[in-house]
Amino acid sequence: MTAQRLDGKALAATMRGEMAAEVAARVGRGQRPPGLAAVLVGEDPASQTYVRNKRKSCDEIGMANWLHHLPADTTEQQLLSFVESLNADPAVHGILVQLPLPKQIREETVIAAVTPMKDVDCFHPDNVGRLTTGHPRYYPCTPHGVVQLATRNGIAWAGKNVVVLGRSNIVGKPLALMLMQKPTAANPAGGDATVTVAHTKTVNLREICRRADVIVAAAGQPGCVTPDMVSPGAVVIDVGTTVVDGKLRGDVDPAVGEVAGWLSPVPGGVGPMTITMLLYNTLRAAERIDG
Ligand code: GUN
Repeated sequence: MTAQRLDGKALAATMRGEMAAEVAARVGRGQRPPGLAAVLVGEDPASQTYVRNKRKSCDEIGMANWLHHLPADTTEQQLLSFVESLNADPAVHGILVQLPLPKQIREETVIAAVTPMKDVDCFHPDNVGRLTTGHPRYYPCTPHGVVQLATRNGIAWAGKNVVVLGRSNIVGKPLALMLMQKPTAANPAGGDATVTVAHTKTVNLREICRRADVIVAAAGQPGCVTPDMVSPGAVVIDVGTTVVDGKLRGDVDPAVGEVAGWLSPVPGGVGPMTITMLLYNTLRAAERIDG
């Protein structure tokens, strides 16, 4: 590979070190440690792994954390009541209800039940609206991880042609919003970029991608970004996390590393940054709630 590596694992370790010091300083002043409550409903193995990794990362920086594992047949009303108890718990600053939820529970109803102050995923419509209008309360974790991974490696977004591949509510859509916005004191992750969002109905995807200075691949299609789609020297950020034959595969064909100027690996790129930004939001939530 000739592309420079966008090392999310290394940046995550640096940022977590910074946050561990902030947590220790708060505790040293007699404040509660920031606390993250994770809610897992059912037995989805991938969700169990994600939640385990999130909790381990909390432990590493001295953050309080709890896992509330509810049975797969939990009703929507039971889950809503449970979320309400977390909303009211002063030790809990961030609430994460792991998605997907079992079929009998409407995700949008549960997302709307989390108090926006503790919505460290930035999924609540109030927080999405604030993000959309350039006054974010929190940034969503994966898009923020992508922005930080590039920015803290010296890659500027302003004026760049960026292609975001994928339009999900968790990654593609909020990332496109963030990158197109003007950066301000209230919205420092604004990218000032020219953003194209490509998706399953996009025609001429290859040509569109070849015009890009930066490609962010969040389509969930292993290997869908191939070398012929990438302009020599372009930045390619891989958000794909599909398990194929027990192995984590990104959206980017590894051969892209011979064409791109920068490439984030899977694993070890955006993944560790997502969890880091969740810790970041929980720390910001503790500051908002406890001072
Ligand atoms: N499931 C997959 N990604 C996420 C995420 O970022 N947050 C939550 N709550 N569930 C998820």
